[in-house]
Order: sequence, then C-alpha cells, then structure tokens
Amino acid sequence: MVNIFETIISTFLENRIGISNEFLNADLAFQLKSNLIELYEKEALKQAGIGNKTLLTLDKDIRRDKIHWLDKKHQNKHESAFFELIDDFVSYLNKTCYSGIKSYEFHYTLYEKGAFYKKHFDQFKTDDSRAFSMVIYLNKGWQEGNGGELKIYTETGFEMVSPDNQKCVFFKSNELEHEVLVTNETRMSITGWLKTSI
Ligand code: OGA
Ligand code: NI
Repeated sequence: MVNIFETIISTFLENRIGISNEFLNADLAFQLKSNLIELYEKEALKQAGIGNKTLLTLDKDIRRDKIHWLDKKHQNKHESAFFELIDDFVSYLNKTCYSGIKSYEFHYTLYEKGAFYKKHFDQFKTDDSRAFSMVIYLNKGWQEGNGGELKIYTETGFEMVSPDNQKCVFFKSNELEHEVLVTNETRMSITGWLKTSI
C-alpha cells in the first residue's frame, strides 16, 4: 500500500501529475465498476453540472458525464473498501506532506459514447476547499482509438492520460487545467477531491 502511495506522491512531486497504474486492485476495480453499471442500468446516475453540490448549473456544452455520489451511508462493502483505501492515502499524505486534508468527496462517473468535459479547473470561484483532484479509472482493456483521454495542460504543453483500469491520477485542483476528450466508448471512473475543510 505504502508503495502505491509513494509512487503517486513521488510522480506528483516530480511532475505535478501523480500517477499510479495500480491504485485499485483488480477485484475492487471490478466490483466498483459493477456498482456503477448497476446504477446506470437503474437510471440512478444524474447529468453532472458545473458548480458545487449546492450551486449547480447544467451545461451540456461543457460536460456530458453522468454521476452518482459515493456515500458511507450506502454501507456497500466495496464502497467501504474504497473509502478505507482513501482514508489510508489521506493519512499517509497528511503525515508525509503536511497537506492538511480534512475531508473528501467522490462520485461514480460515466461518460457515454460521444461524451466529453471541456477544459476547466476543479476549484470553484466561490469555494477553495478542493485541494487535490483524484480520478480512478474502471476501464479494462482500454484501447488507444477509444479516445476519452484526460488531457492535462502544463507549463510546457500537455500530458495525455489514458483512462486505464485501476489507474489513479492525482493533481492540485487549482493548478492544472484539464479536459476529457470525446470518448468513443463508455468510459467509467470514480472522481473525487481531497478537501482542506470539513
Ligand atoms: C472532472 C475531471 C477527469 C477524468 O471530473 O473534473 O476532470 O479523467 N475528470 O475523468
Ligand atoms: Ni476536472
């Protein structure tokens, strides 16, 4: 576990983009993806908006993904395992980097074929509590021609992140602008933010 966390932190410190190719083990990735597909099939996913949870605007020109918030109250075994992993990561991050993370929020995310999310920052103008963004992908056997890359803009250009199963990408929410390119296949993930307020 510590090795995975160290990989994320060291790549983040080197490059401002932290990456672990196996943040989730294959079983947990499969179980969470099954949860997400079940939610999709019973039409429990909602069109994502822009703005925070309380101030939400829908804008389908900006983003076309569908989401559902994870919640400890669901008492879903696999969501609980996911939260345990995040708790361990947050403790490690706070201990080794003094990052002062106090809470987090995560949602399941599904991009249908043709969906995208235009260039944006993850921090809201009215709320700076999101310190770090984390996206964890649930797409087994993702192929290059499938599109749906995460394009992260850097000082010198950009980096492309392919949404491969079990992979986690980690960056500062107010620092790096990014977008999700049009996907040609269903694209699934868990997206979240580590926050400096409760
Ligand atoms: C987001 C986002 C990136 C991705 O949800 O804010 O930028 O790769 N997601 O899904
Ligand atoms: Ni984003």
